[in-house]
Amino acid sequence: MEAILIEGGQPLVGTLAVSGAKNTALALLAATLCASGTTVLENVPELADVQVMLEVLTSIGVKVQRQHDGIALDASVLTSHTTPYDLVTRMRASFFVLGPILARLGQARIPLPGGCAIGSRPVDLHLKGLRALGAEVAIEHGYAIAKADKLVGAAIYLDYPSVGATETIMMAAALAEGTTTLTNGAQEPEIVDLAELLTAMGARIEGAGTECMRIEGRPDLVGVRHRCIGDRIEAGTFMIAAAATRGDLTLVGIRPEHVASLSGKLQEMGVSVTWTAPEALRVQATGELTPIDVRTLPFPGFPTDLQAQTMALLAMTPGTSMLTETVFENRFLHVDELLRMGANIKTEGNCAVIQGVRPLTGAPVRATDLRAGAALVVAGLAARGTTQITGVHHIDRGYERLEEKLISVGARITRSGVGETAKP
Ligand code: EPZ
Repeated sequence: MEAILIEGGQPLVGTLAVSGAKNTALALLAATLCASGTTVLENVPELADVQVMLEVLTSIGVKVQRQHDGIALDASVLTSHTTPYDLVTRMRASFFVLGPILARLGQARIPLPGGCAIGSRPVDLHLKGLRALGAEVAIEHGYAIAKADKLVGAAIYLDYPSVGATETIMMAAALAEGTTTLTNGAQEPEIVDLAELLTAMGARIEGAGTECMRIEGRPDLVGVRHRCIGDRIEAGTFMIAAAATRGDLTLVGIRPEHVASLSGKLQEMGVSVTWTAPEALRVQATGELTPIDVRTLPFPGFPTDLQAQTMALLAMTPGTSMLTETVFENRFLHVDELLRMGANIKTEGNCAVIQGVRPLTGAPVRATDLRAGAALVVAGLAARGTTQITGVHHIDRGYERLEEKLISVGARITRSGVGETAKP
């Protein structure tokens, strides 16, 4: 079984380039279906999840061609309105193709993504949005089956600012007749980037990134070239790792406003976060850090996708911290693994009380989901001794060339296969 091995205690020092944003790229890839032409996406990360999304698109007739400066996707002719069950179960975000396929073909039959380790992950808000635009949507035999001769702009209110539901509604509304107003939609940077892509294709979108968005649909959208933003969660993970290892790390390819909440909380702990260029920041930490309290919220609040990594940092920060997870109902699976490394964490519902212990000690641990795995990497980088992390396929879903990047800034990290005894 593959494992990541880390010899802890090395401060991260140097400069890292942040990859394109996984969660943005997945939405942008789905949105290429909205244009009956070729879209070239730049800065798309090489990740397992991206590969699955490309397989989904290919399965319905999109011609995919990797170029030196991006990925060209020709969605002129879609050959099917349904996607393979196994692909959607492998990567839930492939459900995001429902809206665009329905808008392009008048019908769509997409497997329901089901739950995952961190929660039940319902899609009711996605379906509510499509129904508001005039679609008939039924759930049959584990599939969402949607039909609409024509989608018509509507006023839609989302009970919760769901990122995926906002993206589904944006992509369908971009091809609907008339104007859609979306109230209480998600405001994440991936929403703004998706709006920029759809606008370049010919839709008219105002208010992306605010609590009220206005989308004017067009009957026909054209393929364009678009560059995906830098990954704020990858960047945040490295910022936290730099703080945990008391390093001095510069990150390039990330916008300050995309990591503002984390920057503020790290500064509250006594970590120095400075902007050295429009898309570059420097994180420096020395000596003792101050414990803090964190509550995850939809953007611009503190991102749930950095909760596990932040818990690892707080687990190594002497004093009492409190972490409240308000977005997902089961996102503390990393706690048991951190306890194996000597952490002192008590959870009650969606709240974790952390008594920091420094240093943690290296141990064999298991990644249970993507960001829990990232948290274990953070802990291993700062722990005393060797940490062995299994379940690395979870980590590979969201981090491009992780070991290579960390080694380039001083980490002692490697990957071993079955029976190998590589020392980091
Ligand atoms: C996206 O998931 C991200 N994934 C997640 O990142 C991220 O954690 C999440 O947004 C929140 O930021 C991708 O973009 C591919 P939501 P999504 O819909 O869209 C409830 C990672 O680690 N909800 O905003 O599925 C839901 O149960 C992953 O990179 C409904 O109730 O998230 C959850 O409690 C993990 N009904 C909350 O909203 C719905 O129809 C947030 O979910 C949809 C969601």
